[in-house]
Amino acid sequence: MKKETEVREIIEYYAGQKEAKSQENLTAMLREIQEKEGWIPAEACSIAAEKIGIKESMLACIIKLYPSLKSAPYVHEILLCTGERCQRKDSLELLAAVKEKLQTDKEGLSKDKRILLTTRNCLKKCSTSPNIYVDKVHYPNMTKDKLLKLIDKLRQE
Ligand code: FES
Repeated sequence: MKKETEVREIIEYYAGQKEAKSQENLTAMLREIQEKEGWIPAEACSIAAEKIGIKESMLACIIKLYPSLKSAPYVHEILLCTGERCQRKDSLELLAAVKEKLQTDKEGLSKDKRILLTTRNCLKKCSTSPNIYVDKVHYPNMTKDKLLKLIDKLRQE
């Protein structure tokens, strides 16, 4: 497959760099793989780890560190605040409702793999609690009804 060959070429290139194991080099490699694939497949991480001589968990850590790097081919991302002030306005109830609707796995990925649910402990917008972001757009004063409708809309896109 042409794409697979291109990903292998990317890995070969970065594996051949002087500072191949540096975070900077690994991050650049992951970004390039994502540009090619739209996300970073586990298989690519496994090949890269072997070529470079590092643990796959190191690449997983870098992917976690940069929100722009995707370890799954999801299309939308919901970020829900679980900070104290949002909790006081029922953000945990929102979280449970989203989890149930999307049937997320332990990584927060929906059953259909199209939506990723993540949480953060305070989004620095406490005056409009509860807060969520969908695809980096802020939705203040969220309610369960509004959120479930929003998810229905995302699923149609
Ligand atoms: S606690 Fe949610 S924005 Fe601060």
